Amino acid sequence: MPGNEIAGAAALVTGASRGFGSGIATALSKAGANVVGVARDRGPLEELRAQLGESFTAVPADAADPVVAGQLIDAYRPAILVLNAGATPLPRPIQHHTWQTFSRNWDVDVAHVFHWVREALLAPLAPGSVVITLSSGAALRGSPLSGGYAGAKAAIRFLTAYAAEESQRAALGIRFVSVLPQLTPATALGAVYVAAYAAQQGVEVATFTDDLGPALTPEQTGKAITDLVTGPGLDQDAYLLTAAGLRALT
Ligand SMILES: NC(=O)c1ccc[n+]([C@@H]2O[C@H](COP(=O)([O-])OP(=O)(O)OC[C@H]3O[C@@H](n4cnc5c(N)ncnc54)[C@H](OP(=O)(O)O)[C@@H]3O)[C@@H](O)[C@H]2O)c1
Repeated sequence: MPGNEIAGAAALVTGASRGFGSGIATALSKAGANVVGVARDRGPLEELRAQLGESFTAVPADAADPVVAGQLIDAYRPAILVLNAGATPLPRPIQHHTWQTFSRNWDVDVAHVFHWVREALLAPLAPGSVVITLSSGAALRGSPLSGGYAGAKAAIRFLTAYAAEESQRAALGIRFVSVLPQLTPATALGAVYVAAYAAQQGVEVATFTDDLGPALTPEQTGKAITDLVTGPGLDQDAYLLTAAGLRALT
C-alpha cells in the first residue's frame, strides 16, 4: 500500500490499549488511518481515544472470541489488520507449569490469529489489504520461563505464511506478514520476562537489560508497522524487529 493511500484507510489493531498495540494504533492514526482498537479493558482504550481523537474507535472485546473476529471483520473490512493481542504467560520453569498455564498463549495469541486470519481470507478483505501478525523473537530461540509461549509464537509465524500461500493461490491480493519483536523491558509483558530472566541469572534487571542492547519501544514498533504497510521494498513474509529496525527473515 503506497504511503499516500494510508490516509483515510480503515485499520484494526488488536491489543491496542497498551504496549506495542498502543504504539501501533498511534502511528497508524498519525499517518491518517481510521483506527479501530480492540482490547478487553475499556478504560485504557478510552484514554487512547482521548489522545487520538475521532480517528480512533475503541472496541472493548475479547479478540480470541471467534464471534468477535467475524463481527468486526464484517463491520469494518479493514485494509490494515494488525493482530497484536497477546497474553502474559506465568514466568516459571517448565515443571512449575500446568497444561493450562503452559497453553495460555495457544488459547489467546494463536487462537486469535487463527480466527482473524480465517475471517480475512473468507471475507475476503479487499485486494491490497495487509494483515500483520505479532510473533516473537522467542519463536527463533525458545523462551524457557514462559511455558508454551515460544511454540505458540512460532505457530503464528507458520499460520501467517500459510495464509499468504492461500491468498496467492486464490489471487486475493491480501498480503500477510509476521513480525518477530525482540524482548524489551518497555512493555508490561516484556518487563515481566526481563525481571524473570534477570532473577534466574542472579543479576540486576539493569545489568540484564544492558546486555540486551537498546530497548525496542512501542513508538519504534508503531513506526516499523507503518513502514511495513507503506514502505517500498518491505515485501518479505517475516521480519525480526529490534531497536535497530526491521530485518527480513528468510
Ligand atoms: N514485549 C515484548 O518483549 C514482546 C516481544 C515479542 C513479542 N511480543 C508480542 O507483542 C504483542 C504485544 O505485546 P506487549 O508487550 O505490548 O503486551 P502488553 O503490554 O501486555 O499488551 C497486551 C495487549 O493485548 C491486549 N489483550 C490481551 N489479551 C487480549 C484478548 N483476549 N483480547 C483482546 N485484547 C487482549 C491487552 O489489553 P487487555 O488486557 O485489556 O485485553 C493489551 O492491550 C504480544 O502478542 C506479545 O506476545 C512482545
